[in-house]
Amino acid sequence: MDDLALSVRTARPEDAADLARIYIESWQDTYAGVISHTLLGAMSLRAHTARWQATIKRTDRNSGAVLVAEEARFGAIGLCSFGKARDNGAGYDGEIYTLYVDPAFLGRGAGRALLAGGFDAFKERKLRSCLVWAHARNNACFFYEAMGGRRVATRTTRLMGELTPEVGFGWKRLATGKQTRTLQSRSDQS
Ligand SMILES: CC(C)(COP(=O)(O)OP(=O)(O)OC[C@H]1O[C@@H](n2cnc3c(N)ncnc32)[C@H](O)[C@@H]1OP(=O)(O)O)[C@@H](O)C(=O)NCCC(=O)NCCS
Repeated sequence: MDDLALSVRTARPEDAADLARIYIESWQDTYAGVISHTLLGAMSLRAHTARWQATIKRTDRNSGAVLVAEEARFGAIGLCSFGKARDNGAGYDGEIYTLYVDPAFLGRGAGRALLAGGFDAFKERKLRSCLVWAHARNNACFFYEAMGGRRVATRTTRLMGELTPEVGFGWKRLATGKQTRTLQSRSDQS
């Protein structure tokens, strides 16, 4: 398989349709068997495009932003949104709200590049630690552990109406610039 030529940048309103497509395809791929087929099939590209457009335009309220992972040939292949930790944040400053990679490009370094981009953005905003919630039975848990996250909390939430167990992964200290570059350069090599 060819190496991906990846870069990560802040999303623009015109990216919204691409982000909505990735988000919907990723939900349909990840949550098949967890969330009803009917609900997943009803996710609307138009509604999610409007939602991402609004989220991108709200950038920097709550110290938040949306990042896009772009591949030189294929365009947008992943997204990440973040901001200040919600609820009480369990003692963490920043939170990754969403992190999704196009199912056609899983396991090729885009998730690592987006997380490294998010950590860099946290540091620019003086957010010194990070929390992310994942479905307890999601493979994303292995990814967050591989990225150095520790299991620090559990909770039950509703995901499209279904009661869902979640695990909180925490980074008390974000990687220093050098370590982030290491994260980034490993993704460049993958
Ligand atoms: C979780 C997700 C963002 C990871 O992104 P990715 O681009 O596939 O991951 P990367 O290729 O950057 O992987 C980085 C490292 O994480 C680990 N990893 C990633 N996916 C893994 C999996 N399914 N199982 C075990 N380890 C995994 C590997 O150690 C990998 O390191 P390596 O490349 O040296 O082997 C992506 O799989 C995804 O979008 N999943 C579906 C949506 C989702 O669950 N999002 C999270 C919601 S909280």
